[in-house]
Amino acid sequence: MTTLLITGGAGFIGSNLVRHVIETTSWNVVVLDALTYAGNLRNLEGLETSGRLSFVHGSIADESCVESVLADFNPDAIVNCAAETHVDRSIRSARPFVDTNVAGTTSILEIARRNNVGRFVQVSTDEVYGSLELTDRPFRSNDSLKPSSAYAASKAAADLMVLADVTTHGTNAVITRCSNNYGPYQFPEKLIPLMTLNALEGRPLPVYGNGKNVRDWIHVRDHCRGILAALEKGERGGVYIFGGSEERTNLEVVERIIALTNAPASLMEFVADRPGHDLRYAIDNSEALVSLDWKPHTSFHDGLRETVEWYRTHLAWAQDVRDGSYRSYYEQHYGRTLQ
Ligand SMILES: NC(=O)c1ccc[n+]([C@@H]2O[C@H](COP(=O)([O-])OP(=O)(O)OC[C@H]3O[C@@H](n4cnc5c(N)ncnc54)[C@H](O)[C@@H]3O)[C@@H](O)[C@H]2O)c1
Repeated sequence: MTTLLITGGAGFIGSNLVRHVIETTSWNVVVLDALTYAGNLRNLEGLETSGRLSFVHGSIADESCVESVLADFNPDAIVNCAAETHVDRSIRSARPFVDTNVAGTTSILEIARRNNVGRFVQVSTDEVYGSLELTDRPFRSNDSLKPSSAYAASKAAADLMVLADVTTHGTNAVITRCSNNYGPYQFPEKLIPLMTLNALEGRPLPVYGNGKNVRDWIHVRDHCRGILAALEKGERGGVYIFGGSEERTNLEVVERIIALTNAPASLMEFVADRPGHDLRYAIDNSEALVSLDWKPHTSFHDGLRETVEWYRTHLAWAQDVRDGSYRSYYEQHYGRTLQ
């Protein structure tokens, strides 16, 4: 491997993956990112000094842009992290999710095949499996797809396009499906950075419903290690699932953030539940251990403390990413549910 193209590399997982690749390999990295509200070049700060990072501003759905990136950089592999990712936004408007997650992925996949890119990794989510009951066994990779939200449905559709390409054209692609990530550089609309920053700034902590929804939290570093393992060791057409083996209710997460930030518990407010809110996600990591020799390294206890500390010391970053579009979305969304 000489050159890796990471789409969505200015977002949360993408930028952590870029950092991980620059720090742990000798590869050159090209980032293709549309810089939507969720993409921020500050997430890549400091990496330019490596001399191994190139950035192209453009969309995976723009064929001529993707063609020229492949012609200019000739990457050996692509990791597709570019996506619309927030379930709440997909409830309000599903179309951008179809445009990027389904049409964009289909487009870059086809162009990669035409240009003989050696490997394509589709970064997907465990949300494609839908919701578990509290007593159900954790997800396995070949469980059936039952997405609940437009976000999850668009990711499931993209996964099926990737698998169809493998079957029809023999494309050398793999899919990763991971549980909920946390860590540095996550846009403050997702639970952990939202609650952490609000707690640090003395603002309300809006918890959906009764707070009993369960997520299996994984540190983004562990997810990045999994993506690289799938890239290097995964079988053509393989689906690889990763979780942190750290199931927590949202309430437990918020209470721990309150403790770590010394915020008053009175900041917590229960708000109207998200429509179609999945009750529980959980991952059976035994497959990844056998097939990729992968398991999570960071405990939720240590990872959350480290993450809260990162946000505490990066308030300027948070201020910077909260541009006008984010602020108006936030007010529109929580302004309503908080009433
Ligand atoms: N965050 C999680 O907990 C989680 C868990 C499992 C899987 N995933 C998947 O991981 C991937 C990355 O998620 P994230 O949390 O980093 O998302 P994010 O919203 O933080 O970042 C997405 C990035 O994609 C870019 N982007 C959006 N549309 C684009 C387009 N058309 N062309 C090019 N770039 C575009 C954005 O500018 C942004 O930089 C997604 O595919 C998501 O489904 C996320």
